[in-house]
Amino acid sequence: MSKAKVTVVGAGNVGATAAQRIVEKQLADVCLIDIVEGLPQGKALDMMQSAATEGFDTQIVGTNDYVDTANSDVVVITAGIARKPGMSRDDLLKTNASIVGSVTEQIVAHSPNCIIIVVSNPLDVMTQLAFNKSGFDSKRVVGMAGVLDASRYARFIAEALNCSIKDVRAMVLGGHGDTMVPVPQYTTVNGISITELLPAEKIKEINDRTRHGGAEIVKHLKTGSAYYAPSASAVAMVEAILLDSGRILPACALLKGEYGVNDLYCGVPVELGKNGVQRVIELPLNETELAELQASVKAVKELSSEIA
Ligand code: NAI
Ligand code: 2OP
Repeated sequence: MSKAKVTVVGAGNVGATAAQRIVEKQLADVCLIDIVEGLPQGKALDMMQSAATEGFDTQIVGTNDYVDTANSDVVVITAGIARKPGMSRDDLLKTNASIVGSVTEQIVAHSPNCIIIVVSNPLDVMTQLAFNKSGFDSKRVVGMAGVLDASRYARFIAEALNCSIKDVRAMVLGGHGDTMVPVPQYTTVNGISITELLPAEKIKEINDRTRHGGAEIVKHLKTGSAYYAPSASAVAMVEAILLDSGRILPACALLKGEYGVNDLYCGVPVELGKNGVQRVIELPLNETELAELQASVKAVKELSSEIA
């Protein structure tokens, strides 16, 4: 059986760690590409030299040439820059839009049948942009944020209840930012909603911490943002696609009327498999949750309009 091929664009913190997780899990051979000469080559070589110790037969190559990315099954886009002192959110948005736009064009030219997973921020807008540039069916362009946000939510719940993380299933909807919507009624410990297990004030505190989960890490690191949980989250999506598992995961997908939203990428539960986003799942929401989701959709639309 021929091995799957995954390209990871951006050999920085998230990209390199995602590449490492993919080869160590033996999910696929990996092509790691970056604009900086030597960076992906050096990291790929280093990872290959861990193969004997870690015991993986998958291969990873580093490159600056898109020819080497040809015929990838899945492409994970992590290329971009982080906000620097003196840089406005607008500057960041425009810089990353230009990077994600050009990366998408080159990826599509060399891997016309791939599924694209966008990680670069601002996530919802970059995923919409990659979709627009790719010319792909929306099933084949998806963004990673919900898996990460739900994973943070799950961790905080397990911590509060002192229970096993293995029993926690968390759900977060909406855009990847302060307006995201953690949904307690669909967040359970072995099927029991957390509304039955935690007082309302504690749930509110955990929801707020989840919304600012990324910022909490930036505050500690000071010079960069999170990458262990983000790379694990992107790889969970790669795995669901390559193994055609049909997992239901929260992800940034194109809405076509679901939740009353049209033609906008936003975080919702989806079924992921070999065709990409095989189904968008529309959860019944209460009034408060729906209002929160609408506010989040509005925030994503406003940001999106800045690069329209
Ligand atoms: P990083 O700065 O460590 O790595 C970014 C890499 O992209 C660098 O190696 C850089 O050289 C490369 N790059 C820049 N322009 C490029 C181009 N045109 N072509 C190819 N490579 C290019 O940043 P990090 O921590 O890996 O984060 C990457 C992106 O992912 C950021 O936009 C970050 O905000 C976002 N992110 C999103 C998350 C999510 O939940 N969606 C979670 C964590 C990070
Ligand atoms: C995070 O949530 C920076 O989006 C990134 O950690």
